[in-house]
Amino acid sequence: MKKFKIFKSESLNSFLDYSFKYKWSMIGVILLSTLTSLASALPAWLSKYLVDDVFIKKDQKMMMIVIGGIFFATVVKVISNYYATISSSYVTEKIKREIRVDVFKHLQNLPLSYYKKNKLGDIMARLNGDSGALGQIGFTLFDMLKESIAVLALTFRMFQVDFVLALLSMTVVPFILMMVRKYTKKIRKSGRIRQDTVGEVSAFMQESLSGIHVIKSFNKNERMVEKYSTVSQDEFEKSFRSRKIKAKVSPINEIMTTLMIVLVALYGGYNIIQGKLTAGDLVSFITAVGLMQQPLKRLIDKNSSIQEALPSADRVIEIMDEDQEKDFHGEKVEIFKNVDTIEFKDLSFKYNDSEKNILEDINLSVNKGEVIALVGRSGSGKTTLVNLIPRFYEATTGKIKINGIDINKFSLKEYRNHIGIVPQETFLFSGTIASNLSFGREEVTPEEVIEASKMANAYEFISELPKGFETEVGERGILLSGGQKQRIAIARALIQNPQIMILDEATSALDTESERLVQQALDKLMENRTTFVIAHRLSTVINADKIVVLEDGKIKEVGNHKELLEKNGVYKNLYEIQFGKNEEILIIEEEGII
Ligand SMILES: Nc1ncnc2c1ncn2[C@@H]1O[C@H](COP(=O)(O)OP(=O)(O)OP(=O)(O)O)[C@@H](O)[C@H]1O
Ligand SMILES: [Mg+2]
Repeated sequence: MKKFKIFKSESLNSFLDYSFKYKWSMIGVILLSTLTSLASALPAWLSKYLVDDVFIKKDQKMMMIVIGGIFFATVVKVISNYYATISSSYVTEKIKREIRVDVFKHLQNLPLSYYKKNKLGDIMARLNGDSGALGQIGFTLFDMLKESIAVLALTFRMFQVDFVLALLSMTVVPFILMMVRKYTKKIRKSGRIRQDTVGEVSAFMQESLSGIHVIKSFNKNERMVEKYSTVSQDEFEKSFRSRKIKAKVSPINEIMTTLMIVLVALYGGYNIIQGKLTAGDLVSFITAVGLMQQPLKRLIDKNSSIQEALPSADRVIEIMDEDQEKDFHGEKVEIFKNVDTIEFKDLSFKYNDSEKNILEDINLSVNKGEVIALVGRSGSGKTTLVNLIPRFYEATTGKIKINGIDINKFSLKEYRNHIGIVPQETFLFSGTIASNLSFGREEVTPEEVIEASKMANAYEFISELPKGFETEVGERGILLSGGQKQRIAIARALIQNPQIMILDEATSALDTESERLVQQALDKLMENRTTFVIAHRLSTVINADKIVVLEDGKIKEVGNHKELLEKNGVYKNLYEIQFGKNEEILIIEEEGII
């Protein structure tokens, strides 16, 4: 996207990219600002006539012209300033919003690994506060433009009146510039430290509010308040430090400019006595210097504000510089109509920050409609393996192929529509049950929603709720029980009607009745689909077409329950440890399910 390379700072350059879209409004703002500045500089010219012609020569006509001029300049200044402010606010707010939407869009398309690496609270602080600061830079830049024009016009006037006098007063300029430069770096550095701390505080707050349940159950509320108080004290110190540095600039600047006026008064007074300068000239000159004070002060203050805001903008740009998920690799291949085979070929995988392979030498063929149960000890790589199917992560080496085609060649946007996922923990969005059910497919009809909820054994409990399908559920479905939430998740997947299903069976034990309802729902869900299930329930394992036993990221055994038991290997061992020879198994075995 980057077109502009004017500033050294990437953030300012990218702001210019956005502004370019509003070039006509910008030009309007610039013209209006110029008008405002010139109108405010006009008294520097008029004052000469006021003194020389009105006060000294007592010219009445000139008096009217000068007064009229001042009045006119004020009217022009007020009106153009009003419109300049409105239009620059419009552009700035527009850009702020555009940046936020773009950052949000970018965030939506970042891989899951980004969210594992970064704290949610910090990301939110960047999206809200920092991207606002980037828009604010725009507003400040406009203001600086206005002030610069005023300073330039007044400087011109100074040179017009008396060249030597003007040069003399310019001697302080290098000192002012030196000082501004010196503080610029300091302000920017402390601004970055402050914004990072703001991000940390936000992350802490987000975590401690989402984890309120754990905090309460460990009775750690007071401890959390203490911690918050410490981190916010840190934020206070960093913010105060940054403000303190910024505050130093103004007084130093003022001392310098006062020095400038003293020089002018001394040399100017001497010249009047010598008769080289009229009183009007000196008043005009001093008016110019006086009028310049405020814009100059503001210019320097605004520069400090920009320096303070730039680190925020950098934090936004850092998000934008993160690589998004790749839609497809190489040449795009049309998505399949039917999934016939899924094949894992010499696949290995490691997370960016892990040293050794988490998955190694994975070779597995799956046929249409099969149920694949993944079993293995905790940490053996089951979740990692299923996460590769929807391309949440990319295989380090080797491939996953569907109907013989590398899944990386499908467009991600279409591909994921064919995969349904029922995670271990159901996440419900705030809204009605109906809106949660149709989350994957907004165009679904109410009849389909009802049908799916019936299949998922959820219809009954939903209809018993006060508002039925229109019942609001909290951000995390606070109203519903674990088993109910699972059935909602199953109904949601049924509505999506994917060809490939990934189930991470919940480990939390449900009561027998809920267990039966959930199990029936799952059975419906698996019908006519190719299903990968991380199995914790005995019945799922026993009924699976293929059981894949993982150990330390490698496939140890593949086969159905009976075959694997006969092998007398890892599976048998695991099975006995996990399920034991309890009554349930005896019943299942007696009923001849296996
Ligand atoms: N985002 C990650 N970054 C780095 N390492 C990870 C990440 N997620 C998991 N791991 C590591 O990968 C290994 C496999 O984890 P995985 O979650 O796949 O195990 P699992 O078989 O699903 O275990 P469980 O039955 O407990 O859910 C573990 O050693 C884990 O520490
Ligand atoms: Mg897991």
